[in-house]
Amino acid sequence: MTTGARLYREQVQEAVDFLEERLPVPPDIIIILGTGLGALAHHIEESTTFDYEEIPYFPRSTVTSHAGRLICGELAGKQVAVLQGRFHYYEGYSTRQITFPLRVLSLLGARYLLVSNAAGGLDRAFRPGTLMVIADHLNFIPDNPLRGINIDEWGPRFPDLSQAYDPTLQELALECGQRLGIERLARGVYVAIAGPSLETPAETRYLRQCGADAVGMSTVPEVIVGVHAGLRILGVAMVANVNDPDNFQAILIDDILAEAKKAEHDFVRLMHEVVGSME
Ligand code: HPA
Repeated sequence: MTTGARLYREQVQEAVDFLEERLPVPPDIIIILGTGLGALAHHIEESTTFDYEEIPYFPRSTVTSHAGRLICGELAGKQVAVLQGRFHYYEGYSTRQITFPLRVLSLLGARYLLVSNAAGGLDRAFRPGTLMVIADHLNFIPDNPLRGINIDEWGPRFPDLSQAYDPTLQELALECGQRLGIERLARGVYVAIAGPSLETPAETRYLRQCGADAVGMSTVPEVIVGVHAGLRILGVAMVANVNDPDNFQAILIDDILAEAKKAEHDFVRLMHEVVGSME
């Protein structure tokens, strides 16, 4: 094993040991909260909270819209670990660094990953606030978190991504959304770009032609590691803005955050219902 791989593995193990010593119950469900979707964390009961700085080798969030806290506890009767604030490739991290927290939590024994993000809509039928259950993805980030020596105890060298997003969980999320009367609910393909610059009209046209329904700067690295770690995965993209290449409007971070605030209530209800309905 190369020094880099050995070091990464030791650092992950140190963070696992740190959390194992401090958590009364190990988490079963890992939840990653996207931009502006942090409110779910307020619903966690019997919680133990860590600032990312306290946990050995956790990266530091450089984006003000991301809090940087791990909250472990109970949600709708299930043991969850919520990552409130995530890391992005555009911050300068490798995707291996971005996925460090997820790798650590998966080794604590979790079986599920619920991952969310704020995204730009590419499908013309979408409206701001649409919650898109992710059916599949395109990785346009020029990195892969599994690049380098494979750590065989963690997962296979060539993980199969034919069903990265668990079909049963997709159905469950759509059923829960319908039951709750959430009108702006869809299913589609998410494309991850490197960022931090947003797309041009020509890039938007191209991404549509590639088959993407929503675009963002996250999620895919975590999903790749989640599959590698054997997690069953549900992804939900909150469509903050809809990008029409023929009538292109400026995409402004303040507008994205404002839209996320509006959709957050439905997102929280949906997540609560999904977690409560899981086996
Ligand atoms: N593009 C990329 N990322 C985003 C967007 C977008 O339009 N909206 C929210 N995150």
